[in-house]
Amino acid sequence: MSLLTSLSSALISLSIAIYTLGFLFFRIAELVPLLKLYPTHSLSISIGTIAIQCTPSIGRWSKRIAYIATLLGIIHFIDVRLPKPLPIPNDAHATKTVVITGANSGVGYETARQLAVHYGMNVILGCRSKAKCDAAARSINGQIISVGNTSGKAIPLILDLADFTSVQSLAAQLQDVHIDVLFNNAGYAPESNLPVNQYGLDPSFTSMHLSHFLLTEELLKRHPSLRVVNTSSGTHHLCAIPFTVLPDWVLNTFSVDQNPGCVDTDFLTNGMYRETDSAAYINAKIANIMHVVEIPLRHDMATAVAIDLGWVGTGIQSFMEGSFTPASVGWMRSVDVGVLPALHAILSTNDELLDGSVNHFMSNNREWKDGGIVIGVFGRTAEAFVFDWFWKEERSLGRTKMLELSKGLWNVSEEIIEKHTMASE
Ligand SMILES: NC(=O)c1ccc[n+]([C@@H]2O[C@H](COP(=O)([O-])OP(=O)(O)OC[C@H]3O[C@@H](n4cnc5c(N)ncnc54)[C@H](OP(=O)(O)O)[C@@H]3O)[C@@H](O)[C@H]2O)c1
Repeated sequence: MSLLTSLSSALISLSIAIYTLGFLFFRIAELVPLLKLYPTHSLSISIGTIAIQCTPSIGRWSKRIAYIATLLGIIHFIDVRLPKPLPIPNDAHATKTVVITGANSGVGYETARQLAVHYGMNVILGCRSKAKCDAAARSINGQIISVGNTSGKAIPLILDLADFTSVQSLAAQLQDVHIDVLFNNAGYAPESNLPVNQYGLDPSFTSMHLSHFLLTEELLKRHPSLRVVNTSSGTHHLCAIPFTVLPDWVLNTFSVDQNPGCVDTDFLTNGMYRETDSAAYINAKIANIMHVVEIPLRHDMATAVAIDLGWVGTGIQSFMEGSFTPASVGWMRSVDVGVLPALHAILSTNDELLDGSVNHFMSNNREWKDGGIVIGVFGRTAEAFVFDWFWKEERSLGRTKMLELSKGLWNVSEEIIEKHTMASE
């Protein structure tokens, strides 16, 4: 009996430890800004929890309950209390039209759904599968009717980002439509060692960066004051890791520069003419931010925002699918909560996005001519490539170097697009 008790007790302790590790892993993108925004609170909670665990007079069960209550409290705080409140729906929202790529599932679908159903906006769904696109539009339009909205509509259109002709065809169909926001969201986790595509380019970089670059340029011709929103990822923070202290096998696995660096600089400045490697996703997501930084510098009426979602429970990777998922146990935020940065990026006015008094990581005199910005998991804006929140800037490539690379990437992207779209005309 006592063996059974010890075994079940050990099992409970092990479950709590595993849960904590999963929580730390999947919530890292939220825990880091949490520590930065509320260092005193975070420290007090940590000290309090450790003190309870170390007090001999408190029983094992009381300690466990206190620990679990603390974790649940943190989840509630970062999911419900800390995120910047969303704008209240108004008449101006209901006149707007947003184009969303990869809109048939996950972040794209949920963002489109909330914009149309809660804010009465028109959403143009760009998807590569007609059947999935039609189904997504039907579902959103059904919800618009069921809540009794008088505005808002979902319109499905075909867009395959692996094919520049498809991107140009979508832009041509939108020529006479007024568009306020372009949400470049589509993406996927690429496998390694995939051969180059029909353009002789890395296939994932083509879909996630180059096609979005092309679509943006095409739409900006007609809509110079377009808001461009790119879905990036927390992986861009990998720039903050001091790679010089990492072992060679880690550097080789992720194909990163050894001396210190976060991205494959040759890849970004000299082109993407090679098979997909394990760093392709990180490079593409960093490129999504570099693109945003440059847009207002090249198009003076446009505004641009990259979003960092952290982990969100979608179907982007197979372990996130099914009924028992990291999101279902609270390790990851669910998609309806996770799209908050996208909603802020799309719904906020130009001034709201740069308001340093609300956005903890933005200076008050910031202007759009200084470049595009990033919105983090809590919906607050920040400068792109500011690494001093974690490690010293000199141990990463640094903001100056990243901004220089952004210009190089723009020029390379322009050249590649020109070459391949001219050839197909
Ligand atoms: N979920 C996360 O934790 C997380 C974290 C950081 C960033 N992100 C980013 O969030 C974005 C959305 O991902 P998600 O999590 O919502 O995953 P998802 O549910 O798999 O959605 C991805 C969407 O992109 C579409 N897509 C992929 N390749 C395409 C192409 N060549 N042409 C047109 N559409 C294409 C997919 O269409 P199909 O249905 O036809 O495949 C799907 O609609 C991605 O850019 C991803 O990198 C996600």
